[in-house]
Amino acid sequence: MRGRFFYLFLIVGMALIGCAKKEQSPRTDTLLREWQFTQDTTENPTWQNVTVPHDWAISGPFDRKNDIQEVIVVQNGEKEPTWKTGRSGGLPWMGKGHYHTQVVVDRSRFHTLVFDGAMSHADVYVNGEEMVYWPYGYNTFDCYLLPQLLTSDTVDIDVFLENKPQQSRWYPGAGLYRNVHLISTHPIHVPTFGVLVRTPEINAEQATVEIAVELQNGVDEITSERMNELTNEGLRIQTDILYKGKVVATIDGQEGSAVVNAPKLWSPETPNLYMARTRVMKPTANSQQPTAVIDEVNTRFGFRTISYTPEHGFQLNGVTRKFKGVCNHHDLGPLGAAVHKDALRHQIALLKEMGCDAIRTSHNMPAPELVELCDEMGMMMMVEPFDVWNWGKTENDYSKDFNEWWRWDITNMVKHYRNNACVMLWSSGNEVWNQVLPDGIEIVTKLQELFHQLDPTRPVTNGMDQAMYVIHNGFGAAVELPGFNYRTGRYEEGYEHLPQKIILGSETASTVSSRGIYKTPAMLKDFAMYDDNQSSGYDVEYCPWSGLPEQDFQLQDDYPWTLGQFVWTGFDYLGEPSPYDTDAWPSHSSYFGIIDLASLPKDRFWLYRSQWNKQQPTLHVLPHWNWQDGDTVPVFCYTTYPSAELFVNGKSYGKLRFATPEETERLAKGEQIEGVSRMPQVAEFEVPVWGSAPRPELLPRYRLMWHDVAYEAGEITVVAYDANGKETARETIRTAGEPDHLEAVWANKDENPEELCYMTVRVVDKDGNLCPKANDLIAYEGDGFIAAANGDAACLDSFVEPRMHAFAGQCTFIVRKGSHGTFSAKGLKNAQK
Ligand code: GAL
Repeated sequence: MRGRFFYLFLIVGMALIGCAKKEQSPRTDTLLREWQFTQDTTENPTWQNVTVPHDWAISGPFDRKNDIQEVIVVQNGEKEPTWKTGRSGGLPWMGKGHYHTQVVVDRSRFHTLVFDGAMSHADVYVNGEEMVYWPYGYNTFDCYLLPQLLTSDTVDIDVFLENKPQQSRWYPGAGLYRNVHLISTHPIHVPTFGVLVRTPEINAEQATVEIAVELQNGVDEITSERMNELTNEGLRIQTDILYKGKVVATIDGQEGSAVVNAPKLWSPETPNLYMARTRVMKPTANSQQPTAVIDEVNTRFGFRTISYTPEHGFQLNGVTRKFKGVCNHHDLGPLGAAVHKDALRHQIALLKEMGCDAIRTSHNMPAPELVELCDEMGMMMMVEPFDVWNWGKTENDYSKDFNEWWRWDITNMVKHYRNNACVMLWSSGNEVWNQVLPDGIEIVTKLQELFHQLDPTRPVTNGMDQAMYVIHNGFGAAVELPGFNYRTGRYEEGYEHLPQKIILGSETASTVSSRGIYKTPAMLKDFAMYDDNQSSGYDVEYCPWSGLPEQDFQLQDDYPWTLGQFVWTGFDYLGEPSPYDTDAWPSHSSYFGIIDLASLPKDRFWLYRSQWNKQQPTLHVLPHWNWQDGDTVPVFCYTTYPSAELFVNGKSYGKLRFATPEETERLAKGEQIEGVSRMPQVAEFEVPVWGSAPRPELLPRYRLMWHDVAYEAGEITVVAYDANGKETARETIRTAGEPDHLEAVWANKDENPEELCYMTVRVVDKDGNLCPKANDLIAYEGDGFIAAANGDAACLDSFVEPRMHAFAGQCTFIVRKGSHGTFSAKGLKNAQK
């Protein structure tokens, strides 16, 4: 740890500048961003300066051998172990990592370190003394800079991390990948998660807000006796309730309530937020200023009612609605697991554009920034801590820690997010084996009790995939709000037998596709694999346990007792490259996303948009129009309009409308219906015991499909008609000519990012048509490069080099706001940032 004097000097300098300001404010929250990092475990390691949030593995290199796993994935129907490649991303996240920093503190104050998450098995040392060990890499935890350890104003902080192979079924990331806060307060202070806000009564005229504040003196809790003494000495706690910066109510004391008139309700459409500003005050000897604020904590919350009943399903503010949700893993594609607010904002903005209104944080605690943004932007959340309980899915996963740690992990998570308006429900776990084991009911009951002790206001679900067992073995009945993962064919049986009489689609679809790659004919296929390691962009392929979007649309549309769904997944993620997960390297990221790893929407985006976003019209046609003469090409249209007609170079292929539910039954019997799409063919399949048969007859209810279009170069146009048969919109795709130039579009400009610009770079012909097969290597020359991706799950280009191959004509560069540069590719004209 020697040889860091310059660095130390810099930090001291910075901290002193910070301190000058700190005097004013009763509480400061300083992000500790500058650290030194090493993976070298020798006595004199070589250090690297890094900025936290930091993911040590995202820079690669990719390697088939990284965390290669020989396992039986029971879920995939495997009976023998197989080699799983790329399962956790093919990146070097395993091993040990050591972070070190120094801070300068004011020793008259009390200091708490808060880690928003550290991957993983974090061991934190302050001035050489171990302060806390926290194994689970996704949770927030804290520790103190114990006053007795502070021998000078300069404090050494060391964090030792260790990731074990086979610790995860997806890419976990590595290191201090979330923020680290140094919170400095008066010794008498509100501890981490020390404010509880509840809104027990809400109606149009008024709402009640209840506050409970914990208080600590140094490391000690303040007992009620001591609190009385302090009160007698003049200590006061006051919480002001603010709306848009104006005080609308005040609560005195450690616990209390107040009424807010004409509350502005929170919903995804109206994300109104209030602030509870809690102040701890003490008398001073200064007659000019007789009280001093010794601590101040701001807690954001919202007014909204939620209920889940068999009569009305899920209601938000008294109105029944169904979750139009997606599951997401925590990684941010080429940025890895390192949290970036702009990246999360871009994800939410894209999802909202699709009409999505909810995110499930599968299968772990979210970054606080995600929850804050969901509050602000209007996105409901299902927050889920675990993928396993005490039976593991991989050798070194959380099952090793569950028995000892579940209480702490649930406690921190619920205390962290129970004040957030956007959180609609908790999940106690995902597809835990215990659902079919004798101890399952006991564990789920224990967990639910703890959730309710900490938060009686929200229900707890559980993502159950063993429908055929849990419907009858008591586990499904013990789960407060039953969640089914897949198993669309078992929903009715579940409804019939489970006492709750409601079912949530806690995880749905798992359709696989690659953006812009189309396999003909468009046929329903289970676990289809091709030489190019891609899945068909026609949105007709899935896995043995999963299905197509239509199966879930139908359940949600036809049954009032379904509560909505969470599609697997909103965004592609690193790891789990099914169906190319069994020795099919170089695949290393998922194919499940509605939006790819480069944050570019796949066609499925418009299929969901046509069902979920009823505020804006959708008219989307696929595929591209660059084929070989003589090819027979299916053309699909995803739209909100009731009917549309396809023209190829002006020649009509007929007008199609959507099938009614009754017509889908006739289609299932093999009938052809005039004016309705023919159902696609289904490749041979075997329905696994837990699975559901494919239902091709449902597709004509939600898509318009012209299956046999004879390709001729030129253009295809879909013309959409309204209910009266009047033309309302049209969409054209043209055969692209030779690649001519690059085009760069700033994709997240409207989101007003603080730091990151997402640039979509496209290879186009001289008329600006996207060249759908272009895979040119595109380079960025300029300042501010951060990361690049193209959404190809089998591409091994580094995310952190300023060059990336186009995939199906496009890729994404993430560059710092305000930077300047040029995108170029051999033989093509450049584009500027
Ligand atoms: C589910 C599981 C997810 C993911 C998904 C892939 O069964 O909960 O984590 O593995 O399958 O389809």
